[in-house]
Amino acid sequence: MFWQTVAFSAYFLGDASATPQAGGGNSGSADFLRFGCSQLVVERTDPLVNPGLLPSPHMHQVVGGNSFNVTMDPDSIDPPETSTCTSCIYTEDTSNYWTASIYFKSPENGTYKRVPQMANGRLNNTLLEQDGGLTIYYMRPFSGDKCPSTHPVRIPQVMYEIMYDTRGAMSDPKYFKDGKQPLVYSFGDTTGYGAHGDYLFGWKGDALQRAMDNLGKGCASEDCTKILKIQAGKDAIACRKEQQAHEDVGNSNWLTEIPGNVQAQ
Ligand SMILES: *[C@@H]1O[C@H](CO)[C@@H](O)[C@H](O)[C@H]1NC(C)=O
Ligand SMILES: *[C@@H]1O[C@H](CO)[C@@H](O)[C@H](O)[C@H]1NC(C)=O
Ligand SMILES: *[C@@H]1O[C@H](CO)[C@@H](O)[C@H](O)[C@H]1NC(C)=O
Repeated sequence: MFWQTVAFSAYFLGDASATPQAGGGNSGSADFLRFGCSQLVVERTDPLVNPGLLPSPHMHQVVGGNSFNVTMDPDSIDPPETSTCTSCIYTEDTSNYWTASIYFKSPENGTYKRVPQMANGRLNNTLLEQDGGLTIYYMRPFSGDKCPSTHPVRIPQVMYEIMYDTRGAMSDPKYFKDGKQPLVYSFGDTTGYGAHGDYLFGWKGDALQRAMDNLGKGCASEDCTKILKIQAGKDAIACRKEQQAHEDVGNSNWLTEIPGNVQAQ
């Protein structure tokens, strides 16, 4: 059931712009594609783990194509065909990427507020206009020795980078004493070890293959616009989806429980 769950790397160590350049300039690393996606919707749905369930057990923050739905049956939904927009900067990517939200639990009164995400997608070393969301990486497929006969096809590795904005009252040192900390995942995890992300492929035609084939030759982490079509940051931000699981996700109000009455543990 969990084959769809991709490995989640919490942080990419080092500055992508400081890695070897592809053809000079500000085009960035030649070993991976990196791009920003704004928020599509924050809601309790999960078409992979809980298809059809409305609401699903815990809160997710979702980016990508607006064909995202409670059920995403591959026999009836083709994301590039069904999506009319994507919140990712490269318009041929109508995939969906989603992760669990994080809540700050007030040590004063036990209520919860969702920790907002910070954008850090870049183009040519310049921060993109972006609203929340996350940054996606496609790492060049493994190029070492022969693949085992059981797994003969080389596929790129997908990595998510998420920045949480914990500035302000949330980061008060008084909340981080005696081994305690006030953050909890929407599925109740107070340790952080349960971090994970989900992915539903939705690249149009051979766009992803073209990008991978051209890494280091016209396509690099900071600029792949010779190969992929790009949209303005404001257009990616404008691609939003109405909540299907209608509820207050705790962006501005303090909630008395984590949505779904998930217990922090
Ligand atoms: C979700 O999928 C259903 C069934 O295919 C469809 O009728 C509905 O329009 C979709 N909803 C949204 C908001 O896309
Ligand atoms: C609960 O505590 C937070 C700070 O931790 C505060 O901002 C919020 O207003 C409090 N809510 C109530 C209902 O007292
Ligand atoms: C990125 O910068 C390079 C060199 O500075 C320039 O040639 C290229 O057009 C820029 N790309 C975009 C999408 O602005």
